Amino acid sequence: MRYPKATALSAIALSTTTLATPVHKRANVSMIYDFASLDPTPEFNWTPCFDTFTCTLLEVPLDYDDTSAGTTGIAFIKWSTNATNSSSPPQDILTNPGGPGGSGVTFLISALELLTEAFGTDNNIVSFDPRGVNNSGPDVSCFPGVKNTAQLYGRGWGSAVDVNSTSSIATAWAQAGAFGDWCTAAHSGANDTAKYANTIATAQDMLHYTEVLAASNGEDKDSSELWYYGASYGTVLGSTFASLFPDRVGRIILDGVVDGEDYYQGKWEANLFDADAAVKSFFTYCYEGGSSSCAFWDESPEAIEDRWNNVLAKLEAEPITVINTTVVSTPTIVTITDFKNVLLQVPYSPSVYFPILANVLAELEQGNGDGLALYSGEGASLQCSDSSPLVYNEIEPRFFIACNDANGRFNLSTVEDFTENADYLYNQSHLLGEAWAAATAVICRKLDIKAPQNQIFTGVPSANETSHPILFIGNTVDPVTPLRGAKKMSSKFGGSRVLTQDSVGHTSEAAVSKCTFKYVQQYFADASLPDEGTVCEADEVPFQASSSAFNTKARREIRKLKKRHHI
Ligand SMILES: *[C@@H]1O[C@H](CO)[C@@H](O)[C@H](O)[C@H]1NC(C)=O
Ligand SMILES: *[C@@H]1O[C@H](CO)[C@@H](O)[C@H](O)[C@H]1NC(C)=O
Ligand SMILES: *[C@@H]1O[C@H](CO)[C@@H](O)[C@H](O)[C@H]1NC(C)=O
Ligand SMILES: *[C@@H]1O[C@H](CO)[C@@H](O)[C@H](O)[C@H]1NC(C)=O
Ligand SMILES: *[C@@H]1O[C@H](CO)[C@@H](O)[C@H](O)[C@H]1NC(C)=O
Ligand SMILES: *[C@@H]1O[C@H](CO)[C@@H](O)[C@H](O)[C@H]1NC(C)=O
Ligand SMILES: *[C@@H]1O[C@H](CO)[C@@H](O)[C@H](O)[C@H]1NC(C)=O
Ligand SMILES: *[C@@H]1O[C@H](CO)[C@@H](O)[C@H](O)[C@H]1NC(C)=O
Ligand SMILES: *[C@@H]1O[C@H](CO)[C@@H](O)[C@H](O)[C@H]1NC(C)=O
Ligand SMILES: *[C@@H]1O[C@H](CO)[C@@H](O)[C@H](O)[C@H]1NC(C)=O
Repeated sequence: MRYPKATALSAIALSTTTLATPVHKRANVSMIYDFASLDPTPEFNWTPCFDTFTCTLLEVPLDYDDTSAGTTGIAFIKWSTNATNSSSPPQDILTNPGGPGGSGVTFLISALELLTEAFGTDNNIVSFDPRGVNNSGPDVSCFPGVKNTAQLYGRGWGSAVDVNSTSSIATAWAQAGAFGDWCTAAHSGANDTAKYANTIATAQDMLHYTEVLAASNGEDKDSSELWYYGASYGTVLGSTFASLFPDRVGRIILDGVVDGEDYYQGKWEANLFDADAAVKSFFTYCYEGGSSSCAFWDESPEAIEDRWNNVLAKLEAEPITVINTTVVSTPTIVTITDFKNVLLQVPYSPSVYFPILANVLAELEQGNGDGLALYSGEGASLQCSDSSPLVYNEIEPRFFIACNDANGRFNLSTVEDFTENADYLYNQSHLLGEAWAAATAVICRKLDIKAPQNQIFTGVPSANETSHPILFIGNTVDPVTPLRGAKKMSSKFGGSRVLTQDSVGHTSEAAVSKCTFKYVQQYFADASLPDEGTVCEADEVPFQASSSAFNTKARREIRKLKKRHHI
């Protein structure tokens, strides 16, 4: 479930036909459904795409300070408002869904309904695949020339460690080394452009977009400003932009805020402070949801927790056999490690995943591991045939960008270093720390891809003054970007403010809140901020039928996407 595996992927495959947005087909202009048919151009070449959008592949220099490095294409996708009643002309709001490595193209197509509800419809909504991601260059795949890389990593790759097992730690450490050695070799020699896939360069691409836009509108490109919404890792991108170009901030909303200091040090040690609280909210939400909503319901939250402890202890002692051929295609077992891998994703979106977790737990209690096999991808068939859908493996851009940004600053060079790191994370979160440790800092230990000096960020993103203030948003209980991150980063940006959303989950997208939408739209309209200390209630509560109206298909899609991002 954490990495794109067969079952998980088929579930999130794009289906543009499910999007109920009106189609503005332009007569006699063909509609495209990929970026392969576009050539990179230095100006916008908006072409109708994906039924409801326009797409362009913008040619940008790999290195803005060294044009001899060559160029690459960045894939942009745009939803254009038809609003004409706005007092000012519509702006392009750029968006980033997180990751690093998340595809903005996929995000906008999947999340349009949610985004227009949250942002209103006075402005255009734009997204893009950042450098190294999906339809944008440079190619960071560790399998040059291979197009369909989704399943090219072995089973168990990046799986949760067991902090009490030295062999488990040693295995994860060695696997990370193999990844680093392989990928470093694949990107050596002539194929060394992966180093240009980093957050500084992507922030420069966003500025470049605003300049091309201003020029195309006949405006002064040197005073163009960015309008932006970034979630999760997208907050690193946004705060980096504001730090580099403080006088070019039009509107910036940062939602689910990453501690930029920890991120740029490559530690990933400031994420899990509220992780256990997020998972444990399951006990209360399940209880309050009632037996008809929660398959693992019991007479008190404590009774649910007791049963949970029993299920986990039993699974740890005895893996479960899965031979149901509608679920698996090989003889399969599910283990406590599979459970930990799946659990890492669950609190990202409680309204989507808590009901699934309840079903999986109820099954496990009966000795049935079908659901766990399905959601962990264990036993799924490996199909790498030419006819399987073209899907790339997000783990490569995720780690290339994160490791590149970290620039070797947190170098776990011995297995003892990694043991300490894993112990530290386990102490921070008993429930998610072991899965987190296996898939964060250790991955960088041998991935030797280094950006040019002018694309290396040092210190903490900050600016005493920005041309317009930044709006930060944090949930009261976020499993991977705790509220303290929003408070810390807000303290680094003069004039900024934190809006708190009272909900469990990762970013405000985890639970619909009309109150949050109101402040977001006010901010876009005139840059005004909510009062200090404002807290928005959420209108959507896990297991509550009254909020099920919010669980539209489009929202489920976007939350499924989230699960594959670390932040
Ligand atoms: C579409 O465009 C082509 C060339 O640009 C033109 O020959 C053709 O008549 C057009 N078709 C329609 C239906 O307008
Ligand atoms: C990459 O973008 C294409 C559209 O060009 C989309 O169909 C595909 O799902 C995207 N892949 C991922 C993993 O987001
Ligand atoms: C404008 O777009 C909205 C949805 O985005 C749609 O409901 C409305 O009908 C459109 N109006 C016009 C005049 O096209
Ligand atoms: C413009 O019209 C739309 C649809 O009628 C409405 O939702 C929106 O609030 C209006 N915006 C302004 C600024 O009046
Ligand atoms: C470089 O990448 C290209 C495709 O992008 C591939 O065909 C070629 O084999 C790679 N070269 C090396 C030395 O890996
Ligand atoms: C590791 O061992 C300690 C001491 O036996 C125990 O309390 C703890 O629950 C174990 N942790 C895991 C993740 O198994
Ligand atoms: C196998 O799994 C399917 C789908 O979950 C289920 O409907 C069916 O009852 C299962 N079969 C057995 C024998 O458990
Ligand atoms: C980590 O440190 C070791 C030993 O100093 C060095 O050989 C290695 O290149 C470093 N790795 C990274 C990714 O910087
Ligand atoms: C575990 O975390 C607590 C605070 O949450 C801290 O006081 C303690 O020193 C930590 N222990 C270790 C071994 O890191
Ligand atoms: C921000 O303000 C502090 C204190 O006034 C000052 O020391 C620092 O140089 C300023 N930084 C910038 C980038 O202006």
